[in-house]
Amino acid sequence: MPTGFPLDQCRAVITGASSGLGAEFARQLAPHAQTLVLVARRAEALEAVKAELVGKQAQVLCCVADLATDAGCTTVSDFLSANGLKPTLLINNAGMGDYGSFASSSAEKTRTQIDLNITALTMLTHELLPQMDRPAGILNVSSLASTLPMPELAVYAASKSYVTSFSEALAIELAPENITVSCVCPGPTPTNFSKTAKRSDGTDTNRDGQGLLRIPPAQVVREALAALKNGQACIFPGMGVSIAGRVFRLLPRRLMRVLLRRRARSK
Ligand SMILES: NC(=O)c1ccc[n+]([C@@H]2O[C@H](COP(=O)([O-])OP(=O)(O)OC[C@H]3O[C@@H](n4cnc5c(N)ncnc54)[C@H](OP(=O)(O)O)[C@@H]3O)[C@@H](O)[C@H]2O)c1
Repeated sequence: MPTGFPLDQCRAVITGASSGLGAEFARQLAPHAQTLVLVARRAEALEAVKAELVGKQAQVLCCVADLATDAGCTTVSDFLSANGLKPTLLINNAGMGDYGSFASSSAEKTRTQIDLNITALTMLTHELLPQMDRPAGILNVSSLASTLPMPELAVYAASKSYVTSFSEALAIELAPENITVSCVCPGPTPTNFSKTAKRSDGTDTNRDGQGLLRIPPAQVVREALAALKNGQACIFPGMGVSIAGRVFRLLPRRLMRVLLRRRARSK
């Protein structure tokens, strides 16, 4: 049974590494890792993150792939084969949200969200598992939203529920194979997330009070990597989010719906 994943000399694939939490995972792993494969759609943004890491221990490679497409996972897998790389760590971080009501959402953005947050995370894990050297680690980026049925962020919260559930099941299933699986559930974190989740009509469901839960990306990543290293299956980084996560998971569903209805009315 794994007691945690040793980060030193890891060969990591990081999705969504061109900004926000993904770029921060690359920054914090670069002094310890052997190789980092940075995956995202924007080549220039990936190269900018790579340039920041010059002189650190890790060899850094950029792989341009749109993970919301069927070809996305194969592109990553082919890239690893072409470079003779067997990863030991997969960080499924790429994800996006969509602020506003489900009824008024764009069908295309809703589908992309599901394709990226659920399908890509699942299928990339499926594709890479057989290629990964042991001991191995998988770190999935979920969200505090995974604990709540969130009106006006419904598909996102449901997709992150999937990520948390899937991760906790895999943590049990893969432990005998010496693979540590952790999932991190951040609260509101200042990245490009809100910019992407906002709609073109300006719809933005951010609420007052979220500031209390906000912690910097560097702390989210530090706590997530420590959880993986220590073999913790699921963590809520930061004191406020950690308390909120525990409370939300214990609240009776009926009471939770009453509170969420009130919150929705108060906007
Ligand atoms: N920030 C928060 O408040 C917060 C809270 C809880 C959980 N999270 C989760 O944290 C993770 C990272 O998000 P973030 O906050 O760092 O936001 P971010 O700054 O917007 O980063 C998202 C990353 O995903 C990549 N990405 C988006 N669509 C992609 C696609 N189709 N194919 C490949 N890569 C794609 C983006 O790169 P390209 O645009 O270059 O493709 C970018 O690197 C997400 O899973 C998010 O749900 C964020």
